[in-house]
Amino acid sequence: MAVCSCSKNNKSDEDRFIDDLLSRMTLEEKIGQMNQLDPEWDAELKEPLIREGKVGSIFNIVGAKEVNRLQRMAVEESRLGIPLIAARDVIHGFRTIYPIPLGQAATWNPELVEQAAALTADEATSVGIRWAFSPMVDVARDPRWGRVAEGYGEDTYLTSQMAAAVVRGYQQSPITNHQSPIKMAACVKHFAGYSASESGRDYNTTWIPEVQLRDVYLPPFKAAVDAGAMSLMCSFNALNGLPSSANKHLNIDILRNEWHSDALLVSDWGSGSDLVPHGLCADKKEAALRCINARMEMDMQGNIYYDYLAELVQEGKVKESQIDDCVRSILRMKYRLGLFENPYVPEEEPVAYTDEALALASDIATESIVLLKNDGVLPLKSQITNHKSQILVCGPMADQPREQLGTWIFDGEPGHSVTPLEALKQYQTTSNNIKLLFEPGLAYSRDKSTANFAKTIAAAKKSDVILFFAGEEAILSGEARCRADITLPGAQSALLAELHKTGKPIVLIVMAGRPLAIGADVANADAVLYAFHGGTMAGPAITRVLTGEAPSGRLPMTFPKMVGQIPLYYNRLNTGRPTYDPPVLIDDIPVGAKQFSVGYSSCWLETATEPLFPFGYGLTYTTFEYGETKINGQLPMTNDQLPMTNGQLPMTNDQLPMTNGQLPMTNDQLSMSISCSITNTGKTDAYDVPQLYVRQVSGDFARPIAELKGFQKIFIPAGETRTVTFTLSREDLGYWHEEKDGFNSRVWFATDEAEFRFSIAPNAGAAQLR
Ligand code: BGC
Repeated sequence: MAVCSCSKNNKSDEDRFIDDLLSRMTLEEKIGQMNQLDPEWDAELKEPLIREGKVGSIFNIVGAKEVNRLQRMAVEESRLGIPLIAARDVIHGFRTIYPIPLGQAATWNPELVEQAAALTADEATSVGIRWAFSPMVDVARDPRWGRVAEGYGEDTYLTSQMAAAVVRGYQQSPITNHQSPIKMAACVKHFAGYSASESGRDYNTTWIPEVQLRDVYLPPFKAAVDAGAMSLMCSFNALNGLPSSANKHLNIDILRNEWHSDALLVSDWGSGSDLVPHGLCADKKEAALRCINARMEMDMQGNIYYDYLAELVQEGKVKESQIDDCVRSILRMKYRLGLFENPYVPEEEPVAYTDEALALASDIATESIVLLKNDGVLPLKSQITNHKSQILVCGPMADQPREQLGTWIFDGEPGHSVTPLEALKQYQTTSNNIKLLFEPGLAYSRDKSTANFAKTIAAAKKSDVILFFAGEEAILSGEARCRADITLPGAQSALLAELHKTGKPIVLIVMAGRPLAIGADVANADAVLYAFHGGTMAGPAITRVLTGEAPSGRLPMTFPKMVGQIPLYYNRLNTGRPTYDPPVLIDDIPVGAKQFSVGYSSCWLETATEPLFPFGYGLTYTTFEYGETKINGQLPMTNDQLPMTNGQLPMTNDQLPMTNGQLPMTNDQLSMSISCSITNTGKTDAYDVPQLYVRQVSGDFARPIAELKGFQKIFIPAGETRTVTFTLSREDLGYWHEEKDGFNSRVWFATDEAEFRFSIAPNAGAAQLR
């Protein structure tokens, strides 16, 4: 069974190898490969299946010895010796935990995210894990949905950048020819449309028009596939009435026929058998038939393939060639992981918590912190240089090693977490000139007891600054952890309000798994840092920012003022009756006002359409001044279309662009560049994150009021100016169109001949596109 994973003819070697193996497999063995099992649940029943070659992948087994033990059963005892793949929910780190993905998105630094994924792969593979169930690239516009923690926020472009970065980091292999074995296969999830669940309730139904699916939800999956992602996972939800595991349009038309992906498609946990409760299939046998017909290739823990596929083949309802297609994908992934050559993991000391990983965890957590407000109290200066000043550390998240790690940390160990309290104590030892007092006030985030308020308030009165660590425990976000009220839980806001009455400066640090509606709390604080669940090194990261390192995080999601605004996202359509400026609010309406006397604008009476903080927002310890956005190049065009200049289309023929005096150019040479100068007008060196937004103001369909098309993270020393330039191709301005003709409908991707406006801005709210 020798396999060469390095030769030039790799592809054909791979095909030959797989075809040969497949030709020697019985139907039972093929179906066996299509099962993914968690052996911990019933080892006695499942280990014999491995020996019989009836398991393709195991998951939730950690440790080289145990993985090897099960692998030996597959390789040495099964008839054909096909190795298992060991999978695991490795989501934002393995032992060393990095910020939750939403926090990683807040770094706007895909390079750092890629490095974190690479170091995660080093740790996970050292204990035998070769397949990670991440990244989750579901674009999420609803912070009630608990799984916003696991994704990269509300924007398609930002999520796509992060999706590709994680895939590269895990797999660590060139995407073409697969010249070296894949380090750890990524599994991009949840395919697709899962995050648009009605009312932000997990597993709930999603209704997404085809063009919106393609414009908003699918591009991050495509980006991950283009980056070489080895696998995708079906989502749990019914999309437009059809659950993904049975969705031929998603799994075959789009994934296979349009994207030409050969990635393995695995179900989510029992998402195949869920077709019965979904009300799609009367029984599990029918569910198995629907899933195989929609090319769900591997069944995670659902047993429907194991129980019914052979019968369905015998009855002539399923062709063996359908099974072969699925098994080919599974064997391909094993081949590309090099498992046929090297099925075992060296039983050495596992890689964990290396200096490099801890340093990176601290860096990425630092970059994930978003400064939302600063009345001048940050960075702490006098409080850390004047040895007489006293700092009060309080709030329920100040010293919670487990909670700061966030959701999905099966292998993260709270014992390795450095909490904010601990990090501040370490800082105290090194700098030796701060005095710390610790009075948490509340024991955990949901604590409603006011019993300790008095002690905390008394301590506040003796202190020069209050650091209030608020937020959510890890269990309040993630899968099946949705909230209908997204304010700070328990009595946190009440304690903060009491502390505010002391008149002492307050820094509010929020450690949470989602954007929270913290308007009232922001008003009660002098400075606010949003730190998400920052992982193992959350404490040192927060300390770095508190004590002087300029924050550089930017919000990956819009923060609503109140839950009733949700879904509230920056790239919405304008409507024909946008919100008045100023808006008409409930108390503006005269008593007895006639029905239409206060106008006809799209708004809520309690709050306007403006968010608490817009997408892309974040302050730092300096100020940046943006120059005018300039369009330098010409518009990319198709041959029969004219270029655009200064945001206008069309131009006349004699204005056509030329490259070195040559015309015509090929389409991919055509691009336009947009630039702007940014000056650091303050006294502190800092990173800025300029963002390019585009608005199409006319065209075939109404388009969003702003769309992110690029961003950069650049360091600008105090007093200096940098010019940022973005390049756009014609395709970057395109979107999906739909035409209905009776019962038929056709969708296509195109760029309109239209007027476009461009703005390089510090956040979506500041983009000048109206
Ligand atoms: C989740 C997936 C996860 C899987 C395996 C499911 O409940 O939706 O995201 O990878 O479980 O643990």
